[in-house]
Amino acid sequence: KILILDLGGQYKQLIARRVREAGVYGEILPADTKPEDIKAGNYTGIILSGGPNSVYEHNRFEADPHILDLGIPVLGICYGAQWICHVKGGKVLQAPQGEYGKRFIQIKTQQAGKIFHNITSPTQVWMSHRDQISELPENFVAAASSDSCPIAAYYNEKDNLYGVQFHPEVEHTLAGKDMIHNFLYEVCHVQGKWKMTDFAESMIRKLKQTLGDAKVLCAFSGGVDSSVAALLVHKAIGKNLTCIFVDHGLLRKNEAEEVEEVFHRTYDMDVRRIDAAERFLTRLQGVADPEQKRKIIGEEFIRVFEEVAQDYQDVDYLVQGTIYPDVIESGTDKAAVIKSHHNVGGLPDNIKFKAIVEPLRTLFKDEVRQVGLALGMPENLVWRQPFPGPGLAVRLLGEITPEKLEILRNADAIFREEVANFNLHKTISQYFAVLTPLKSVGVMGDSRTYDYTVALRAVITNDFMTGEWARLPWELLEKVSYRIVNEVKGINRVVYDVTGKPPATIEWE
Ligand code: XMP
Repeated sequence: KILILDLGGQYKQLIARRVREAGVYGEILPADTKPEDIKAGNYTGIILSGGPNSVYEHNRFEADPHILDLGIPVLGICYGAQWICHVKGGKVLQAPQGEYGKRFIQIKTQQAGKIFHNITSPTQVWMSHRDQISELPENFVAAASSDSCPIAAYYNEKDNLYGVQFHPEVEHTLAGKDMIHNFLYEVCHVQGKWKMTDFAESMIRKLKQTLGDAKVLCAFSGGVDSSVAALLVHKAIGKNLTCIFVDHGLLRKNEAEEVEEVFHRTYDMDVRRIDAAERFLTRLQGVADPEQKRKIIGEEFIRVFEEVAQDYQDVDYLVQGTIYPDVIESGTDKAAVIKSHHNVGGLPDNIKFKAIVEPLRTLFKDEVRQVGLALGMPENLVWRQPFPGPGLAVRLLGEITPEKLEILRNADAIFREEVANFNLHKTISQYFAVLTPLKSVGVMGDSRTYDYTVALRAVITNDFMTGEWARLPWELLEKVSYRIVNEVKGINRVVYDVTGKPPATIEWE
């Protein structure tokens, strides 16, 4: 296994994910982890993440320099690379100007070193730094440079120390995966046999240990995340898990019935469906502000669980399908709040469970799918597109009413049906209809209409943190538009959203 030492950078989970992708288990530990603990951990390699500091700042993230003498290969990324250089006697200076975004590096082919094995020069990388290395320590070799950064990568083969100023973990570093692969296989000589099944197995073991005989409830939406989380816990503790499926009245057409059917029948899981539609809709009456809607739904969710939990004695734990993008987007200590995801930010303070269990907290969406497949979940469930906890509430702009919900449900069902007819349901990451508060004039038959506008949203993304709008075939858009205006009363105009994330988010609220 590989240790990722957290020097405060925002990409540490992405590094862990790249390591997993390469078939190796990666573990993240804080910067000040003691060298003896690292030694005891039997790591095959160490990756130092980037970080926000300068090596000359006082309260910087700092590791114990002795970690470089353990005989374990080390790869420093960005600040991590500067830190190695600094503690080994090299020099780091603030450059006249920083480098941010896509840049090209020239690899010194005569002395490229193992990280650049089989990578052609020049190659595009992603830079994000102001400081840079100006002088290498003794016995270190510069391996690459960019126009404004003379030492963009280095190595010391004897001591197995490697550094890159750019971020190989980010997609914009086109050969980044190969570089990480090279570090793992050429430098650390890993075996690379780790698979998502291993994650599933070890997580089930961990859950068994932690949960023991405890009675556990799961917040269950039937979406991929909570289904996989529930299934992991079900495999660990069986009937001690009860899944509470709250039908908040904001689900898609026929969704509640389908979900109940699959998990109850297929898995013999204890699934209890709570019809709470009226309660949610009452609390949402007159509320148009997106953040407020989310807060209300989040709180109401927990209230419902708390009430239901009273029917079960000794319920200690609540399982949630939180995944990594939910965690960062809701704002960890440093990352800014973008919007509060209901399953993280919306928890009220008086929550009555001993603890919340989130087995998927470190994974990205596509990894969650792999875990699902590893657990033997049927493909149609695994490939179900994600559906946000607050449901249609964040796809219905402005105040929510039962009538508007009905309009949105019907429009959305048509869109989904046609995407499947065009066989695009696996290619497009997420697609749905949004009901806007915009009314406009139309003509149908011989009469004037004044009805709502529906927007169609379809995105392609790997991790749901960034994404592109899907280039849907005109024929599909035409068919959907025609069907929606003809079949759904209350809509006379259909538009298509051609905005990426960023700057937009995937959901409209
Ligand atoms: P955004 O709109 O932030 O969405 O680009 C990214 C992904 O997260 C989903 N999403 C949520 N999922 N609770 C969830 O469980 C939420 O509150 C929530 N808000 C957004 C969204 O559907 C997309 O897949």
